[in-house]
Amino acid sequence: AGPEVAVTVDVARPGAVINKNVYGQFAEHLGTGIYGGMWVGPESKTPNIKGWRKDVLDALKDLRVPVVRWPGGCFADEYDWRDGIGPRGKRPVMVNTNWGGVVDNNAVGTHEFFDLIELIGADAYVNGNVGTGSPRETAQWLEYMTGDGQSALARLRARNGRAKPFKVAFFGIGNENWGCGGNMTAAYFTNLYNHHATFAHSHGAQATKLIAGGGLDGDVDWTDYLSRNIRAPASAISLHYYTVPGRGGSGKGPATGFGEDQWISALKDALHMGELLARNVAKLEQNDPQKKFTLAVDEWGTWYEPTPGTPPRFLQQQNSLRDALVAALHFHIFHAHADRVSMANIAQMVNVLQAMILTDGNAMVLTPTYHAFRMHVPFQDAVSLPVKLDNNPQYTLGGAGIPLLSASAARGKDGKLYLSLVNSSPKDAVAVSVALAGAVGKSASGSVLTAAAMDAHNSFASPKAVMPTPFQARADRGKLPITLPPKSVAVVAVHE
Ligand code: AHR
Repeated sequence: AGPEVAVTVDVARPGAVINKNVYGQFAEHLGTGIYGGMWVGPESKTPNIKGWRKDVLDALKDLRVPVVRWPGGCFADEYDWRDGIGPRGKRPVMVNTNWGGVVDNNAVGTHEFFDLIELIGADAYVNGNVGTGSPRETAQWLEYMTGDGQSALARLRARNGRAKPFKVAFFGIGNENWGCGGNMTAAYFTNLYNHHATFAHSHGAQATKLIAGGGLDGDVDWTDYLSRNIRAPASAISLHYYTVPGRGGSGKGPATGFGEDQWISALKDALHMGELLARNVAKLEQNDPQKKFTLAVDEWGTWYEPTPGTPPRFLQQQNSLRDALVAALHFHIFHAHADRVSMANIAQMVNVLQAMILTDGNAMVLTPTYHAFRMHVPFQDAVSLPVKLDNNPQYTLGGAGIPLLSASAARGKDGKLYLSLVNSSPKDAVAVSVALAGAVGKSASGSVLTAAAMDAHNSFASPKAVMPTPFQARADRGKLPITLPPKSVAVVAVHE
């Protein structure tokens, strides 16, 4: 028998509220992420509502998706919002230079995007164009979306079928402007941010929050410069970091059919998000002690070699149990930084990178990442609670090591106490003993996600190979003994 890891949840010391938006999503005009994967058009024989696939909408509704970022990503910096309004048949066609040079007929534009988010009950995070767009375009797109008066743009929106303003909860100014967004320096971008944000008015009663583009892989110097020099309104600074196994060495490796070296490498790289956030949060504490700015991790997730045979630059990859653990480890990190991290958007929602959903024609599969998100719904807007881990050994392989167990707890909006646990070892079960400081846990029930193989996944032939199963524990002498299977994620409600 291995060690018994002691987990103590301090229910008497509630921390910050975990913003539900850290369970946000990202949908870019990239590969079949939107076209085919979600959008089929209202004339399609595939069951749809206003052109959006019904099966996908239903699956997304169950995730309680709080916010969706659109239209990019790198795509945003070449996007002209005016091409995506008016009669669909008359919209100009563009070439998606970033993502395979394919043609985008602009069938999904502003109105269609808002149909999507209104159908799934999410908030909108629209990312503007700084790379090739002007402050005037930023101002006018916002006026088009949010204007409630008699302005020409508000009237144009009404003529295009929407009298009531759209609710733009968040508007992004910039995306990876150190790279695909214009290869800029922090200083140049900061000037552009201030320029655009000065004119990025939301209209009527709306208070659209502005998010400033962040630096390369959570570059602290960029965060430092930006947070010291923002002069226009801003609510958050963005941060991107992808989980890449074999980073800088052996290469990303495949999404399935990998060895244990790629398993530990992926989980270790996922945990690096914690270090990046800690560094960026520390910088903000220094530059912004009044907490004017939060961090929006508006791109994160695994990035592997694409599925063989898929079109170049479509970033299509399978999604395995490993991805579910990567997701849960990220959730724990976001919960731990609940006071500064106000949003996170996994890249991406459907068919791209670490997707929730994979589609092939009319078929649809829910991935292990989908199940990890669904299991963690009770953490949305929950109050984080401190968790102490004792006797938590390292899971090691060769020279690499990461903590065996990861845990996070919160008081849900329903008043229940929720605990999320990850056993990172692909080989060994771990015995966990859960104690509550300030209360007594009588029993726990919830679900666990695990499988026999590290790369177990759901395919179109076998869509339910990786599914959560019921999981429970009963108190013994004031503690809850829980045995976590190898390579597992569990979420339980602890009954006090
Ligand atoms: O998510 C795919 C791409 O990754 C995004 O377009 C870009 O912002 C990032 O580099």
